[in-house]
Amino acid sequence: MQYGYFDDNSREYVITRPDTPYPWINYLGSEDFYGLFSNTSGGYCFYRDARMLRLTRYRYNNVPTDAGGRYFYLRDDGDVWTPSWMPMKSKLDRYECRHGMGYSRIFSSRNGLEFYQVSFVPLRDNCEIHKITLKNESKIDKYIDMFSFIEFCLWNANDDMTNFQRNFSIGEVEVEGSRIYHKTEYRERRNHYAVWAVNVPVAGFDTDRQTFLGLYNGFDHPDTVFKGESNNSIASGWAPIGSHHIKARLAPGESQTYVFVLGYCENHENEKWERSGTINKKPANTLLEKYGSPDAADRALAALNEYWKNLLGRFTVDAEDKKMARMAGVWNQYQCMVTFNMSRSASYFESGIGRGMGFRDSNQDLLGFVHLVPERARARILDIAATQFPDGSAYHQYQPLTKRGNNEVGSGFNDDPLWLICGVAAYIKETGDYGILDEKVPFDNNEALADTLFIHLKRSFDYTVTHTGPHGLPLIGRADWNDCLNLNCFSKTPGESFQTTANFESGIAESVLIAAIFAFTGPDYAEICRRTGRNDEAQYAEKSIAAMIEAINNHGWDGRWFLRAYDAHGKKIGSRECEDGKIFIESNGFAVMAGIGTNDGRAQLALDSVKEHLDTKYGIVLLQPAYKDYHIELGEVSSYPPGYKENAGIFCHNNPWVTIAETKLGRGNRAFETYTKICPAYREDDSDLRRMEPYVYAQMVAGKDAVRHGEAKNSWLTGTAAWTFVSISQYILGVRPVFDGLMIDPCIPSTMRGFSVTRRFRGADYHISVDNSAGVEKGIKSIMIDGNPLDGEALKKLTLPAFGDGKVHKIDVVMG
Ligand code: BGC
Ligand code: NOJ
Repeated sequence: MQYGYFDDNSREYVITRPDTPYPWINYLGSEDFYGLFSNTSGGYCFYRDARMLRLTRYRYNNVPTDAGGRYFYLRDDGDVWTPSWMPMKSKLDRYECRHGMGYSRIFSSRNGLEFYQVSFVPLRDNCEIHKITLKNESKIDKYIDMFSFIEFCLWNANDDMTNFQRNFSIGEVEVEGSRIYHKTEYRERRNHYAVWAVNVPVAGFDTDRQTFLGLYNGFDHPDTVFKGESNNSIASGWAPIGSHHIKARLAPGESQTYVFVLGYCENHENEKWERSGTINKKPANTLLEKYGSPDAADRALAALNEYWKNLLGRFTVDAEDKKMARMAGVWNQYQCMVTFNMSRSASYFESGIGRGMGFRDSNQDLLGFVHLVPERARARILDIAATQFPDGSAYHQYQPLTKRGNNEVGSGFNDDPLWLICGVAAYIKETGDYGILDEKVPFDNNEALADTLFIHLKRSFDYTVTHTGPHGLPLIGRADWNDCLNLNCFSKTPGESFQTTANFESGIAESVLIAAIFAFTGPDYAEICRRTGRNDEAQYAEKSIAAMIEAINNHGWDGRWFLRAYDAHGKKIGSRECEDGKIFIESNGFAVMAGIGTNDGRAQLALDSVKEHLDTKYGIVLLQPAYKDYHIELGEVSSYPPGYKENAGIFCHNNPWVTIAETKLGRGNRAFETYTKICPAYREDDSDLRRMEPYVYAQMVAGKDAVRHGEAKNSWLTGTAAWTFVSISQYILGVRPVFDGLMIDPCIPSTMRGFSVTRRFRGADYHISVDNSAGVEKGIKSIMIDGNPLDGEALKKLTLPAFGDGKVHKIDVVMG
């Protein structure tokens, strides 16, 4: 069943009932300040780092789920209700939540009282704005009490939920009129505070949670609201909150609008205080003056809309298949921007305290947003590269605030270095900016070790070349793309993290996947060398790639599919010889993406085997048969119950590798089938089973061995976003940036009679329409550029030049 629908004109997903199968969230914010916002106004916000600078408190794994957010309680002639449904689960006459690009709206009504909320983070300012309108649609005067409610987090979210012996004594606030300031720890080493304000005079306020709610009450029964009067409590220790009490008298037809602002403010070290004990409110005053009226809030929202319109205008899709068009043109790209902003830090599955920016993740995420924000992608590349070790290996993660490698998570994931080449190649293909290669970039954040970005790429490449095992395949290290294939860990201690435990480098365990990644991304490195006049290096690179392909051919093929790895005893993984884990998705997808076996039938055989053994109704599972028992020599992969996560879950991230591989073979029907199976829009009416938001990809869908086969988890922050965007935009629709220009090479289902794409590329706009009345899956008969045929070499390469002239070019493509 469906819980809403896509409104394509407004680029919103409209949720029509509040009790969705899981909280369906949105992200507010585009630069430094972010909020997570669910369809019932749940969630929290933070400044730059979800762990260190969290403004509002949120309890993961809470009962009921998603309790806590920005709540507004209404009291209408004694009738108390919450218009966002939660936390009171109020019966509503009408309810609608619209998640849009960087904003969300909630509309509801009860007994003739209408409530409109629009919530967003304005461009360039560090605050959430919640514009609330109350409207009396009844025939009588209404006397309304509205109470706002947020709960402050004492900044460090990890400490906030663990260190109670201290934290129950440190909470501090100040209140001035309608402005509530949260200033815990400001007296000592912090120079920032939060402000929660409304632009009208209030009848009262509360800042102490127990006083507002009552000690034994939940958010669904605040004593203060039922009583109808605030207590003007000033928090001292315990749990500081912010609540305003607004009284409104609304005649029939009358409405009132309020602007609530929740902001982060910072002062210089020597300007912290207005006078002893009183914080300097200048930054708050500036912020609140700016957003002090409904008009100002509307203007800020309009600017935000404009920002998104421009951004998504860089790649648009029109096709008969609206599900594909809206996903590829809007929501998939939106999700890519969210992964750019969040990496893997804060979602309803990532608590915001655990994971920094992944070296591998961030490079792959880049594939999905480089066309949207090329300048920011450039900066991101330099940040990532600066954490690389001098030998080419990498910290697996770095901290977003310090941009330094995270020692706690360590290193030794031997696929990491290659993703830097992959990311940089994507950036250069998009922008033509070879200049980035000359940027001086530190190693291990040490300026003294700085060298050019090109040298970083070389170290990445060489790391793989010099770290091979007995079969000439790359050593896996702690793990490769599959974090859970821990072939050198041999962990027996309960609870020990496989990601960080000691890694006994065997010098034996090898990864066919890393070999395939090398074969896929290595040629880009060679090409970059050639195009920058480094011919000797290019030759060396090509030789190394050839040797790697040879190693795959000799030791990475199992007869009907590609092997996955060799363990620390030299035993095969992902082979028909194995009892469980006979076949894995990753090495098969990637080897074929790299073109291995495409001219001797093995590629086809491998993908057919993937279909035969791994395919399900909801996507391709990671391996089969699922591991039934824990294997100490395999690590975390075998720790999961069968069908979940890396143990035979549908790990969506690598499904698009198979999609792309299928396009390599020209099998457009099958490519599209693998694309649609994990695409959320195609499962919208199956929401009771899938449970996650129909507008975003999830990291995992439970596999066929799982009890809950088809149920998704970990929506939003996943490499699936970037890779599915690459698969649909570059390989199915076939509009692909290459070093020479923009390649047009669609591989679509034979039933798709055409489509059109607009694409901004290196400073020009390409309006591309593709005619497939021939009903083929692949192949191009002709390409016209502004009415002139493309011919010769360019037609052979199917590549449009980079016009770079700021103009619109009309491209007509006929398949056949
Ligand atoms: C999960 C992986 C994840 C890793 C990150 C593992 O437990 O299964 O999917 O990448 O943790 O730390
Ligand atoms: C999630 C991680 O973020 C990603 O880097 C990894 O490749 C997958 N898990 C598979 O283990």
